[in-house]
Amino acid sequence: MSVIEKRASEVNGTVHPLPADHVSNGFFGQHILSVKQFDRDKLQYIYRVADEMRSLVKRFGKANLLDGKILANLFYEPSTRTSSSFQAAMLRLGGRNISINGVHYSSVTKGESLPDTVRTLESYCDLTVLRHPQVGAAAEAARYAHKPLINAGDGTGEHPTQALLDIYTIENDLERLDGLKVAMMGDLKYGRTVHSLTRLLSLYETEFYFVSPDILRMPGYILDELRASGHHFAELRDVDEIVGEIDVLYMTRVQKERFEDPEQYEQLKNYYVVDPEFMSRAKEDMILMHPLPRVYEISMEVDDDPRAAYFRQMENGMYIRMALLAAVLGKS
Ligand code: NCD
Repeated sequence: MSVIEKRASEVNGTVHPLPADHVSNGFFGQHILSVKQFDRDKLQYIYRVADEMRSLVKRFGKANLLDGKILANLFYEPSTRTSSSFQAAMLRLGGRNISINGVHYSSVTKGESLPDTVRTLESYCDLTVLRHPQVGAAAEAARYAHKPLINAGDGTGEHPTQALLDIYTIENDLERLDGLKVAMMGDLKYGRTVHSLTRLLSLYETEFYFVSPDILRMPGYILDELRASGHHFAELRDVDEIVGEIDVLYMTRVQKERFEDPEQYEQLKNYYVVDPEFMSRAKEDMILMHPLPRVYEISMEVDDDPRAAYFRQMENGMYIRMALLAAVLGKS
C-alpha cells in the first residue's frame, strides 16, 4: 500500500483493507470508535448476529469461531460489566484475553504514552479494547494502531458498545425502534452512555425528553446534531408531566468521578430516584433502563418489576460484544 493509500484508509478508520468484508458486513478490520460509524443496516446486522450468539450460548455455551485470537483489554478507568463481558464474549468464542489495569499495573506509571502502550499490546494481540478518561483517547490511540481498536468509553465522550446493547434491548423488549418516546434522566452532561444512545436513536423516529438538573443538561453539540437531523426534543427538570407517556426511561448515575466540587455532587446525587410509587405512574408497557452501576437513582424494590430492563441489558451486552468481536475479526 502506498503512503497516500495508507493515509486514506486511516482517515476512514480502516486498519487494513482485507478481503473478508463480505462475511462481516464491512466491520472486518475496522476500529469501533463512535456510534457515528453505524447506520440502520449495520445495526440490524449486528443484532441478528447477536441473536445467533444468544442461541449459541444457550445451546452450547461456546463456539470455536475465534480460536487462536487474543484480545487485549486495556482499562484506565474502573469497569465491571464492560470489561468482563468483553472477556466472557472472547472466551465463549474460543479466544483468549490479556487484561491490563492501565492506571496501576502498566508502564504508564513509568510515563509511557497511550500510543506506545497500544502498540505494545497489539504486537501480542489481535484486537484492543480501550477505556480511558479522556474524550477522544480511543480515536487518538487508533491513529497509531495497526490492529482494530474498540472504544469502551472515552471520558465524557462516547460509549458505543453500550449504546449498541441498549438499542438491542429496546428492540428485543418493545419489538420496534421507530415511533418511541424516550426520556433520559439524570446526569446527561457527563454520562457518555446517553451521548452515544442519543446519536444512535437519532437513526430512528424518536421523540427525545432530556430530564436533568440545569447544570447536568445534555451537551449543546448533541442537541445541535438532533436539530440538524430534524428530531423533536424537550429539556425538562421534572419528569412528572411526561411519565405516563414515555416508552423508555433511561436513568443514569450522577458521575461522581467527573465533578471538580465534591459538594456539588453531594447536592445532586439523589436528585432523581425511581421507586415503586414512581413506576405506578408509568405506562404498563414501558421499560426502565440503566447502563449500571446504579447508586441511588433506582431503588432495589423496582428490580422485580417486569419493566425493569437493566439486568436484561447487562446480559445482552455479552451477545452484542460477541457479535462485534466476530464481525471485526472476520469470523461471522
Ligand atoms: C457506564 C460507563 O462506564 O459509562 N457503565 C457501563 O459501562 N455499563 C455508566 C456509568 O459508569 O455510570
